[in-house]
Amino acid sequence: MKLAVIGTGYVGLVSGVCFSELGNEVVCVDNVQAKVDMLNNGEVPIHEPGLKELISSNMVAGRLSFTTDLASAVGSSEIIIIAVGTPSLPDGRANLTYIEQAAKEIGQAIDTYKVIVVKSTVPVGTNEKVADIIREYATVSFDFASVPEFLREGSAVKDTMNPDRIIIGTASERAAEKLTALHSPLTNQITITDVRSSEMIKYASNAFLATKISFINEIANICEKVGANVEEVANGMGMDRRIGSSFLKAGIGYGGSCFPKDTQALIQIAGQMDYDFKLLKSVVEVNSDQRFNVIRKLEELLGDVAGCTIGIWGLAFKPETDDVRDAPALDIIETLLARGAQVKAYDPIASSNFERNFNRSEVKYCQSAQEAATEADALCILTEWKEFSNIPLSSIQQWLKSPNLIDGRNIYREEDLKDTPFAYYSIGRPR
Ligand code: UGA
Repeated sequence: MKLAVIGTGYVGLVSGVCFSELGNEVVCVDNVQAKVDMLNNGEVPIHEPGLKELISSNMVAGRLSFTTDLASAVGSSEIIIIAVGTPSLPDGRANLTYIEQAAKEIGQAIDTYKVIVVKSTVPVGTNEKVADIIREYATVSFDFASVPEFLREGSAVKDTMNPDRIIIGTASERAAEKLTALHSPLTNQITITDVRSSEMIKYASNAFLATKISFINEIANICEKVGANVEEVANGMGMDRRIGSSFLKAGIGYGGSCFPKDTQALIQIAGQMDYDFKLLKSVVEVNSDQRFNVIRKLEELLGDVAGCTIGIWGLAFKPETDDVRDAPALDIIETLLARGAQVKAYDPIASSNFERNFNRSEVKYCQSAQEAATEADALCILTEWKEFSNIPLSSIQQWLKSPNLIDGRNIYREEDLKDTPFAYYSIGRPR
């Protein structure tokens, strides 16, 4: 099939590349010329395992190309996938400017029947508005569908190629058939539903996963008080198939571009309908507070952090990505500086992104884990990169000024810390 994907952000780029890997002819469109040039030169603007290789092999095979020319990409495609960003506005609502602009341009460009798909995460009702905008400008018929994306950063290619399910929200049988054919090589778990339910499935899924994380983080906080171990608790809970074991890893809370944005947007959507989504508001509040556990533990250890040097390992919001959007490290480092500490920070790949967002003289961005830990009064682990868990504790002990270790992601086993001089604080485990 011939596809045009509008927007080469995370979702658009990964989806476009994976559809080309399935043998479709895909043109990815972006209005930023520099980004398109970069992609045409085989450079990838995001760090995502396996993506670069797939881009180059599919470009060589002639199935994948990048352009700024929306009209010609759309004109020659049977299916148009809109995957532009919907960032948060200051009040938490989703900003729909980009999607509305894309709809207008698509409407102006199409000259034969098309199936138009929205993959961007949008508030309930937006797809119908997008279709109205296209209709305003189009002179030909089209059908539209909402096909939300459930990939995770860091495993985006794997998730897209092996999805748990595909949700197709559409009122059109013709679109449902075409989109089922497009997705059937990926899975047989394909559900056809109405547009509004499809839009809601995306928000409800992210909100539920965020709820699981905040729930287990609160259980972790209680475990610390009663002397239980949250990992044992999560393991025991997860064996119940009704609960499931995933997204029960306690830590310093969720970050990234999705859960924080989508939980706020769903609270707003409910609020606009005069519904107070109390549970989700608490999930967000618990998540904001969980990050400060690192500061509380540091102050328990050091008294006051003023004048101390704190080593930070991990700046990305999760491993295997260079994305620092809403990363817990942002709030934690900000608070440390406000309380008079100096910071030495290291991340295997996210340091330059972080520095671009957070350029302060009191933060030294280091080239290695060793450099960030050397002569620090305490070391905090904020992202569970494999590189960190492979470093022997004896080396960390040698590097640090004092053996103070705050493990915000529980990467070490407590047994390994027994009989060592470390003052070790992790999350939800007895000390
Ligand atoms: C999330 C969803 O998992 C995807 O299904 C969805 O498609 C995506 O948002 C989106 O809406 O685009 P993502 O934010 O990339 O994906 O990454 P996750 O693996 O979900 O992690 C999010 C945050 O939760 C990270 O900060 C991670 O450290 C944290 N987390 C995750 C925990 O603290 N504990 C867990 O058990 C799992």
